[in-house]
Amino acid sequence: MKKSIESPEPASREPRLSRRAFLASAGTVGVATVINPNNLVAQPMNPAAASVATDGAEGAVSMTLRINGNEHRLRLDPRTTLLDCLRENVVLTGTKKGCDHGQCGACTVHVNGRRVNSCLSLAVMHAGEEITTIEGIGQPGALHPMQSAFVAHDAYQCGYCTCGQIMSAVALLKEPWGPKDDDVREAMSGNICRCGAYPNIVAAIQQVRGKS
Ligand code: FES
Ligand code: FES
Repeated sequence: MKKSIESPEPASREPRLSRRAFLASAGTVGVATVINPNNLVAQPMNPAAASVATDGAEGAVSMTLRINGNEHRLRLDPRTTLLDCLRENVVLTGTKKGCDHGQCGACTVHVNGRRVNSCLSLAVMHAGEEITTIEGIGQPGALHPMQSAFVAHDAYQCGYCTCGQIMSAVALLKEPWGPKDDDVREAMSGNICRCGAYPNIVAAIQQVRGKS
């Protein structure tokens, strides 16, 4: 059943994570970006994060975004990027901010099934569209085949780029690329991995392509 989530009131500004909890979770960065169930399930909105623009703020606009099958009613500065909206207002932090300039692919999400650099797109442009993040493509115990392949092929090191890599890889399954490894490299050229896990990423993608 469709869920509808209201934008929180601006009065709630208490931090959601204690410093201890933050440090504990930060210690799991890496593999956690791929297999931690907390990164695979839609998270509740963070009351502390809705301060970009709220009811009454000058210039704020209301919008309803459909993200991973859930509707989120938000009131935001119209200049808010889709990336900042996802991370700061909806608290889906699997989508990562790398360059914030469309150069690294860490922020890749799907809009109506097509991959998009969310740092280059405004949230307000996507009302009525189907937005999918890494939290929306698999569930704990039922990972997307591409997520499982990345784990099986050890296709990451620090994991910071991994969610964007997987979102691009899932999208390219429906794109008209050729069958060769070079085709995959070309298709994935917008997703940068500073750890250089490219051979394993290509192997993971080719495994899934071979089965699809
Ligand atoms: S953060 Fe969007 S492309 Fe780098
Ligand atoms: S795994 Fe570290 S940037 Fe890609």
